[in-house]
Parts: sequence; C-alpha cells; structure tokens
Amino acid sequence: MVYVTRKCHFSASHRLYNPEFSNEKNDAIFDKCNNPRGHGHNYVLEVTVAGQPDPETGYVIDLKKLRDIVEEHVIEKVDHKHLNYDVDFLQGIIPTAENLAVMFWQILASRLPSGQLHSIKLFESDNNFVEYFGAPVTLRRFAVRHEEAEFV
Ligand code: NI
Repeated sequence: MVYVTRKCHFSASHRLYNPEFSNEKNDAIFDKCNNPRGHGHNYVLEVTVAGQPDPETGYVIDLKKLRDIVEEHVIEKVDHKHLNYDVDFLQGIIPTAENLAVMFWQILASRLPSGQLHSIKLFESDNNFVEYFGAPVTLRRFAVRHEEAEFV
C-alpha cells in the first residue's frame, strides 16, 4: 500500500458555540472561540489516499484529479467563508477542526474510488491539528436559529 497526499490551504472564520448552552456555559467551554462575530484561521488540509500503484502508470491516483476533487468540493466551498453561515454542508454543525475533518471526509469519500480515502488531516494552526480515518462518529447538527439564518 502506498499513501499519496494532497496538501492545500484555506482561510475561514468561525465561531464555536452550542445554541443549546447558556452564554455563560458557551463562554466557559469555548472561551475566546465563542466571540460572537467570530475569528479566523489559516487552515492547512492534507487529504491522503491509499492504494497500489497502477503498473501501467505508477500512480495510486493522479494527483491532478485529487487536487481538482478537493478544490471543487471542499476548498471552493470554505475558502474566505464564515463556516457557521456560508457553507451548505456545515449548517448547524459546530465548526471545530474535529467536525470539519469528519464533514470533509464524508464529502470526499463519496467522490473518490471506494476505499481509497485514507485520512483527513486538518491544521487549524501550526500547533493544533486533527486527523480522521473514517471510523464512524456521531456528529450533531443543530437547528439553525432565525437570528443566525439572517446572515445566510
Ligand atoms: Ni477557532
């Protein structure tokens, strides 16, 4: 098995809060990340696929094709966006790096040959990153409230 990675960047803003928590509880848990008007990150996304190199081409996957899939279905949707309001597949999702990695997996796994996606690695900063390998997780989608929907 050979592992092939496409690395890309995007910049986005987000706010971490749970609409079912009180303001005090959101502040206690999310602290500065609960700033009502959000804050930004320069994210680094690494998408890794695994497979056998094709004997005819030497490729596990054509990296141009992987690049195009990641760009079209993830990067163009999230780059220079507010993740709480602007991204259809993130509506009602608390946009932590963990949840973003899971959602990116779901989107990319369905657009790559079955079983080929190996991992999603998402850096929120130089020091903080998450990795996801596709094991089932429970991810909650909250109802979007009116005062949030007005930004859509
Ligand atoms: Ni943040």
